[in-house]
Amino acid sequence: MAPGARTAVLVLACAVLALAPAATLADDGQPPLRQLAPPQLAVGTGVKGYALSSDADYAAKLASEYTQVTPENEMKWDATEPSRDDFDFSRGDAVVDYAESNGLAVHGHTLVWNEQLPSWLTGGHWRKRELITIMKNHIQTVMRHYKGRVRSWDVVNEAIGVKSIWSQVIGYPDYVKLAFQFAHEADPDARLFYNEINADGVSGKSRSMYKLMSSLKRQLPGVPLGVGLQMHVSLCAPLGARCPPSAADVERNMKRFSDLGMDVDVSEMDVRLEDGENGSGPTPEALDKQADVYRGILKACLDVSRCRTTWGFTDRFSWIPGKYDGYGYALPFDANLQPKPAFDALCEALGGSSCSPSPPPSG
Ligand code: XIL
Repeated sequence: MAPGARTAVLVLACAVLALAPAATLADDGQPPLRQLAPPQLAVGTGVKGYALSSDADYAAKLASEYTQVTPENEMKWDATEPSRDDFDFSRGDAVVDYAESNGLAVHGHTLVWNEQLPSWLTGGHWRKRELITIMKNHIQTVMRHYKGRVRSWDVVNEAIGVKSIWSQVIGYPDYVKLAFQFAHEADPDARLFYNEINADGVSGKSRSMYKLMSSLKRQLPGVPLGVGLQMHVSLCAPLGARCPPSAADVERNMKRFSDLGMDVDVSEMDVRLEDGENGSGPTPEALDKQADVYRGILKACLDVSRCRTTWGFTDRFSWIPGKYDGYGYALPFDANLQPKPAFDALCEALGGSSCSPSPPPSG
């Protein structure tokens, strides 16, 4: 081959290599989840904006493993409309910019909830009509800002059995219906989710949710509705902790929403473990049980869902220790960003081989 031609081949080969997806194995020898997942399944994680901007290892790990992010706090009402009709998208925009530059989809969270509301809103004495206007303005301004960049939203969060400014002033389930109607007007292409906590298996609460969703479906024909099962769970033992519903139970629950003709996603999964004696950390048995829960739920998702999102991916940044005293260790990567048995279970459930970390060299 002439030297010129050889150079051309070499340049071409280098160009192809540069375009190829990042190495098939992560630094720790694990195949990234995003490469293993079937195309119809989004591999999602909650994300903390401050961690993205302050921790390069966190940001890189996220981009290499996941296909979708949900901002944990950056699009909530207190962040986006801290004063009435004065919107601040800076924190949300930073997450969306990061997602776009790393090829990740964004799920918006959350437009109407009873928590993380600004004091101008909770402290006001609103008449029904005025509060409806405020809700509409909020939903539509936020959604229009992100139109085309955020393609699915948690429109209403945790409404069942909760007394809130919304239920007290506007009334349940009317406010839920209005919120979905306003959201659909703002972005007819966006998939619109109702997101609920502790309604993961078949239960009284998930039955109420089924009733709610059936009636929304009837009243809002043509609106692309979905249900998010948050799946914040713990292991059964000991002392009265609420057991996670079995994977079969969750799948049964998912199936009936899917049979209604709507998406049903696991939206915020974590499996919290006890800190252990003197903060010694979870036992290997607890980590294995946690892995079983992750494996079972992922299998249910593979059968029924389009998305499985965990609420964060590393124990380095998790809401659990701040919320549940004596608990932590809830996510598939540990605080050093190393894969746990839960990661191996996810990797295996997606058909990966060589999922388990190789033992450290001896000697
Ligand atoms: C949590 C965030 O992860 C925390 O950082 C914040 O302090 C409180 O909210 N259900 C939801 C989420 O829908 O928005 C919550 O996220 C967890 C429970």
